[in-house]
Amino acid sequence: MSATQPNEIVATDRKRLHVITWGCQMNVYDSGRMADVLAPLGYTPVSEPDGADMVILNTCHIRDKAAEKVFSELGRLRRLKDARAAEGHRMVLAVAGCVAQAEGAEILARAPYVDIVLGPQTYHRLPEMVARAARAGGAIIETDFPPEDKFDHLPDQAAPQGVTAFLTIQEGCDKFCSFCVVPYTRGAEQSRPATAILAEARRLVAQGTREITLLGQNVNAWHGDAPDGKTWGLGRLLRELADLPDLLRLRYATSHPRDMDADLIEAHRDVPTLMPFLHLPIQSGSDRILAAMNRKHTAADYLSLVDRLRAARPDLALSSDFIVGHPGETEADFEATMALVRTVGFAQAYSFKYSPRPGTPAAGAPSQVPEADKDRRLQALQALLRDQQARFNAGCVGRALPVLFTGPGRHPGQIAGRSPFLQPVHVTADSALIGQEHVVTIAAALPNSLAGVIDLALTQQAPIQPAPIQQAPTYQERLSA
Ligand code: 5AD
Ligand code: SF4
Repeated sequence: MSATQPNEIVATDRKRLHVITWGCQMNVYDSGRMADVLAPLGYTPVSEPDGADMVILNTCHIRDKAAEKVFSELGRLRRLKDARAAEGHRMVLAVAGCVAQAEGAEILARAPYVDIVLGPQTYHRLPEMVARAARAGGAIIETDFPPEDKFDHLPDQAAPQGVTAFLTIQEGCDKFCSFCVVPYTRGAEQSRPATAILAEARRLVAQGTREITLLGQNVNAWHGDAPDGKTWGLGRLLRELADLPDLLRLRYATSHPRDMDADLIEAHRDVPTLMPFLHLPIQSGSDRILAAMNRKHTAADYLSLVDRLRAARPDLALSSDFIVGHPGETEADFEATMALVRTVGFAQAYSFKYSPRPGTPAAGAPSQVPEADKDRRLQALQALLRDQQARFNAGCVGRALPVLFTGPGRHPGQIAGRSPFLQPVHVTADSALIGQEHVVTIAAALPNSLAGVIDLALTQQAPIQPAPIQQAPTYQERLSA
């Protein structure tokens, strides 16, 4: 850090910082980094907003009534801010993230008690904003895309993230899918240099992290300057990270099918620490709707990609995102989505009703789908996806899966962790095992998690069995039974 960095302002008195995070994993990462940026000013994270000296609302704009949710939460925070003022203290209230980026001045117009509005690209300037807010007493808006790269201005010091950690390597998106607000709120695609990523990964591992999930709105579009003077792609970066001693697991999210290159597919074959679970959004199974969405791939492209990935890593489990009711979607288009889901077999997935985002092409398109049709299609799709997830989980029973333990379980005496396929796994065991990976024989499958027994003798061998999706009767077979 240079001597002119604003985040070198050092305060001695302890202040309480509460961050409320909505939205994706990238917001979770950003919230952690905002806390790191504010730590030199004496801010320490607390779990409740009540009595805090600063509250940051880190928002998400992707779906639903994002702005309305923000204003309703701000109403609640205003009461806490007033209560704090009545005690003679100031609570600095900041709105960050994608709603701040999209709504900007509208937030201050409707909620004038907000002190700071900042976009996702400016949070390295938070210390300066806090100082300015304290001096001027007026509100501050920082939603421009600044010329400097925020990652170059974040402190090297960071609070430990825990056994599993997120690491943002790429931000923004140039793909402009018809429905999506991200290219407008997060800006153009930007990749961090490999050296900075490797340094951050080393620090995380030194602080006890054993699993890193690389993040980006288009994480597999990452192409970063490398120490060898070349430009690396994600496959190469994963191979480098796999060499870090004590880093047991690697994941990445979220990927676009178009950016899945041969080297990345081969990394799934070659890198044992790369977990056999991939979130690969397709959005729709209909070529007509995929074209309307500007996805620039067909359903057949996706299926052949899945084949190549499964050839590289036969036990690969897949997850995806789906939107039902995109403008122009007919029953036949929707049936094409259902057919694709049946063909692929997902271990889990997220599905949403199309929600018009102001300023995006689809929002103004004619032939918006009636709400009732969206509801019905979403229910049918979610029933199918739930069924596939249940079958996937049921297929794990009796298998021995390596589980990385991340924290205490739901009940006393339990600890919890994640399988390679990202399923939560609960066992009865000593909390001393948290942070370690052990083989668990799965005894029971619940709708969203597994329960099992640690087999210490098997831990050294850590076998991962091929994904058992196809074993139980299919949804179709059950329907016709
Ligand atoms: N309406 C519904 N779902 C959306 N998503 C993004 N934008 C919208 C929208 N306008 C979903 C997509 C994306 C996920 C993060 O959110 O499925 O992959
Ligand atoms: Fe949004 Fe499409 Fe970019 Fe994903 S690829 S962030 S859905 S525009």
